[in-house]
Amino acid sequence: MCSIIGYLGLNQAAPIIVKGLKRMEYRGYDSVGVATFSDNQIVVRKGVGKVIEVNKAAKLDELSGNVGIGHTRWATHGMVTDTNAHPHPSSTGEVAIVHNGIITNHEELKQDLQQKGYAFKSQTDSEVIANLLQYHYDKTRDIKQSVVSTVADLRGDYAFVAVFEDGTLAAARMHEPLIIGIGKEGYFISSDVLGFVENTDEVIYLDNREFVIISKAGLHLFDFDANPVQHQITKVSKEFADVYKGEYAHFTLKEINEQPVTIMNAGMNTQLELDLATDFIRHARTLYITGSGTSYNAALVAKFLFSKYAKIKIEPIISSEAHFSPDIFEQQSILIALSQSGESADVLEAVNIAKGSNAKIISIVNIMTSSLSHLSSIAIGLGCGPEIGVAATKSFTAQLAILYKIVDKICGGCLGLDLARVSEAAKKSLADDSKIKEIAKKLKDVSDIYVLGRGIHYPIALESSLKLKELTYIHAEGLPGGELKHGPLALMDNNTYVIMINPDDSTYSDTLTSAREIKARGAKVIGISDKPSDVYDYWIEISKIDESMYPLVEIIPIQLLAYYAAVEKETDPDYPRNLAKSVTVK
Ligand code: G6P
Repeated sequence: MCSIIGYLGLNQAAPIIVKGLKRMEYRGYDSVGVATFSDNQIVVRKGVGKVIEVNKAAKLDELSGNVGIGHTRWATHGMVTDTNAHPHPSSTGEVAIVHNGIITNHEELKQDLQQKGYAFKSQTDSEVIANLLQYHYDKTRDIKQSVVSTVADLRGDYAFVAVFEDGTLAAARMHEPLIIGIGKEGYFISSDVLGFVENTDEVIYLDNREFVIISKAGLHLFDFDANPVQHQITKVSKEFADVYKGEYAHFTLKEINEQPVTIMNAGMNTQLELDLATDFIRHARTLYITGSGTSYNAALVAKFLFSKYAKIKIEPIISSEAHFSPDIFEQQSILIALSQSGESADVLEAVNIAKGSNAKIISIVNIMTSSLSHLSSIAIGLGCGPEIGVAATKSFTAQLAILYKIVDKICGGCLGLDLARVSEAAKKSLADDSKIKEIAKKLKDVSDIYVLGRGIHYPIALESSLKLKELTYIHAEGLPGGELKHGPLALMDNNTYVIMINPDDSTYSDTLTSAREIKARGAKVIGISDKPSDVYDYWIEISKIDESMYPLVEIIPIQLLAYYAAVEKETDPDYPRNLAKSVTVK
């Protein structure tokens, strides 16, 4: 949700931190701040806005000092204000912290610390960490002991980095990501390798219940009981360095355009895992699939594919709902967990509940070093490269491509899976987007959009409406075509736009009938199809392809439509308001 970063080394910390924060802004972006240690004091600058804006106003990168911490915030406790932005100094200013996660017992801790004379300025749960560290430091003047006592008091899921009055950094991890970068000219500690990948590809992944102390004397790792721990240094993939927009105006547009390649590459680097997972799935007694947001929509496509082609029943579970039906998982079942980030708290919770029923976990995940990968028996990699745009695009089609591969294997090639053809069809949709741009202009002032699809196109209608909501802030709703007459038809009038997902397959004529019913009520109809019809006010042509493959092809023009409508509305397609790419809180 939030991103945290720390640096200690030979160079000026602030410019390195600001650059890292820009890269991690996908994690949260309502306010920003940096603190550095210089001339025996900690100086904090922070404010509301995106990194580029706050940096311009507050000159974050001009803070001096070789040690510092930084943060981008996605508010959970307390409004979006300058005071609530991180870093938070302790009341005496001898410690400052940045925090990601939620401290569930912050209210009790705050009351207790206030009684002991420690003052609070913000409405955040995070500030309690600064004062708690300060309290223990006041008692011991020992940084290691202060961290051990602080983490013993804290409840919840968190990662924090603290800078102390002597220029030492301390950082602790409890169910939120924290990665140490070891560079030639300094140490980094961050929520994501993107925070420092330009500087080093040598990393240490901290485990839960571990902390690190970094000072000029070097780096020391401990568990929460103060025992020293050792970790291998691993090299992260160079692909992480490929996070520039290049010729594209936004990451989202770049990522949409990468799909002809990412669809082809999906799962390629984990072929053995894919084969193994397929075998397990084939013999599973009970099979479930879970995800959040876009990943859940991919799970709904899977339900259709598995039952129609592999003749296997699979039950989709919305990850955030698993908690409320904990008995849902039968013993010894298999749960397929879908997640781009591998860090969505809801998905991790569903996985842990399933593990409680001895389920085997197969994950389909983009970040192979994520918590989800670690929790899984088998992790299949999406292999689509970093996805920075908050709205998932290429990770969705990569998830689908892998699910198609599994189903095709199980049914003995009954899909005739030809991802090269899909890739060609995707290229065609991307090659000429002039018509989509024209339609996007029309959507600019629309308040409601409905997206209709039948059968396997219904989950695509849901994913389309999610893209429209996320990117354009227009109310959008995905509907199964047949349900139109059971209520939604009442909403159709000449201010309504309806997107019909209507390829020339077994759903075609029924969906066309719905289009006529809608048109008769004055609504505007946008047809996504390989076949023209006079009923469409606007026709977005897609390539003809095998019936089962349409989902991979038809979502692409709708992603583009949502993107261009966002550009028309002058919203930021990469960083929609109130959202975050990796939702690591419940
Ligand atoms: C957030 C993002 C969504 C995404 C969902 C699941 O809500 O805003 O775009 O689909 O998380 O993310 P995951 O990384 O688990 O696929």
